[in-house]
Amino acid sequence: MLKELEGLQQQVNAELLISKTEEEFLALRTKYLGRKGLLTGFLRNLGNVEPEKRPLVGNRCNEIKHALSEKIESALSAIARLKQDDYLLRERIDVTLPGRKVRLGKLHPIIQVSRDICEIFAGLGFSVVEGPEIELDYYNFEALNIPKNHPARDMQDTFYVEDNIVLRTHTSPVQIRVMEKQRPPVRILSPGRVYRPDSDISHTPMFHQIEGLLVDKGITLGDLKGILTSFLRQLFGEGTALRFRPSFFPFTEPSAEVDIRCVMCSGAGCRVCSQSGWLEILGSGMVDPAVFKNVNYNPEDVSGFAFGLGLERIAMLKYGISDIRVFFENDQRFLEQF
Ligand code: DAH
Repeated sequence: MLKELEGLQQQVNAELLISKTEEEFLALRTKYLGRKGLLTGFLRNLGNVEPEKRPLVGNRCNEIKHALSEKIESALSAIARLKQDDYLLRERIDVTLPGRKVRLGKLHPIIQVSRDICEIFAGLGFSVVEGPEIELDYYNFEALNIPKNHPARDMQDTFYVEDNIVLRTHTSPVQIRVMEKQRPPVRILSPGRVYRPDSDISHTPMFHQIEGLLVDKGITLGDLKGILTSFLRQLFGEGTALRFRPSFFPFTEPSAEVDIRCVMCSGAGCRVCSQSGWLEILGSGMVDPAVFKNVNYNPEDVSGFAFGLGLERIAMLKYGISDIRVFFENDQRFLEQF
């Protein structure tokens, strides 16, 4: 019996020597120490050993069992450690790598200019109102004293949605919508998108305007000049020279266009101002009595002035941009400069 046991021991040692992987050690454990394992079986059959040799054989068998068990367990834990080390090595985080930058968004230059202008007028008591971009012919034209088939319609090429519905060609219809709802006094500013079928270096089919309207008792051309002068000097600088030029708009009488001294050449004459030394900045005028009648205001009681300006043009002059289309190409390298 003892001899058999020594044979088993040699077999165990030989197998231990050639075992390397986790699976091999686990198989070894099952083969010798499992419930049906060889050493377990040996112990179970101890009853067949002569009584006086039983303790000796039993002890020896247990010794072998424990030694084997210890070796297997330590081999298994060494393998587990190696695995863990390998995992840590592969999953290592290089804390010296530079982090990924979070790119912050920015306001579009047109929006920035719009906010700047709204802020200046907020200081003059104007509040901001918005109107629809898809507009009735009535608000876009007729109520503003531009009748159907009137030549004044040619001033603004128009996208028609349906016979009586247009993409608004200017922000002026907001004047009408506000006056229909509100009795004087009125001091509003209305920024927004407008549409005309035009496309070249200085026109895009969609662009932005701001409309302004002030109505109260006793408002005169002097108020128009004073407020627009104050506004343009805040926007372009205190020393900015201005001129008011007689003009025509169907919804104002009299009408004036306002020019500033060319910001590029200071009046010497250049490509940007077409050698005139002046830049046209906005359209304005005293609200035509015909417009007041359309909203049930009494032109004998109240008077007012209105103005409208293109935001792209202002932004181009402010930032020295020569092609309007860059505003809408959404190239981040362009937009991030502002
Ligand atoms: N709506 C005009 C345009 O788009 C601009 C304008 C001119 C607006 C005179 C006004 C104004 O309110 O009084 O060309």
